Amino acid sequence: MMRLDKFLTEMGIGTRTEVKKYIKQGKVKVDGETVKLPETKVDAGRQEITYLEHPVQYKAFEYVMLNKPAGVVSATTDAREKTVLDLISEKKRKDLFPVGRLDKDTEGLLLITNDGELAHRLLAPKKHVDKVYYAKVKGVVTEKDIVAFAEGISIGQGETAKPAVLEILVSDVLSEIRLTIQEGKFHQVKRMFAAVGKEVVYLKRLSMGSLILDESLRPGEYRPLTKEERERLC
Ligand code: URA
Repeated sequence: MMRLDKFLTEMGIGTRTEVKKYIKQGKVKVDGETVKLPETKVDAGRQEITYLEHPVQYKAFEYVMLNKPAGVVSATTDAREKTVLDLISEKKRKDLFPVGRLDKDTEGLLLITNDGELAHRLLAPKKHVDKVYYAKVKGVVTEKDIVAFAEGISIGQGETAKPAVLEILVSDVLSEIRLTIQEGKFHQVKRMFAAVGKEVVYLKRLSMGSLILDESLRPGEYRPLTKEERERLC
């Protein structure tokens, strides 16, 4: 059982203050009866709750795939910068967060959810979940780099990147690569290439475990995960 105003706030109907006002204005019904007390206890899984006659469905967890554009930060709020959560205009839940951080200039797959357990399973290095990146790299990427990455490479500040799989797509003055890692150290991909004397000039995450970026999403676009994607992840 939960307070009616808390439930409606969590389902994204409005702020707590707004929701209290809507309830007092008689805009909310529980099992067909108008309820005007915000503190009324409801069982959202069993009772039918409507706002302006529209059912408000209880959603414990929400899962959104975002194709993160460059120029926004992977945070929930920021005093100055636009965040990935600012891009999600239709949120059901108020407690969403991005699973892991992509740098401000990195694009690609970002899962946004309020499922903390799933986030932990995807991010904890011990869980060995593959994260696949595509990058454009200034400098000729070579077989030597493949070997160095496969062995595990020192990336400075006393840190070592665990063995990773580097695939060369184009080897030229501007190379193109695909890199599979199982960790998410700060600036990890950029630091791995810096360790072999090269600079990442474009970075995009393609997948995380079974979740693959939907290439029909343009940067900045998002959609809920499909049932199949949710089931495979969870
Ligand atoms: N590695 C990086 O260097 N940056 C990212 O955004 C993700 C992985």
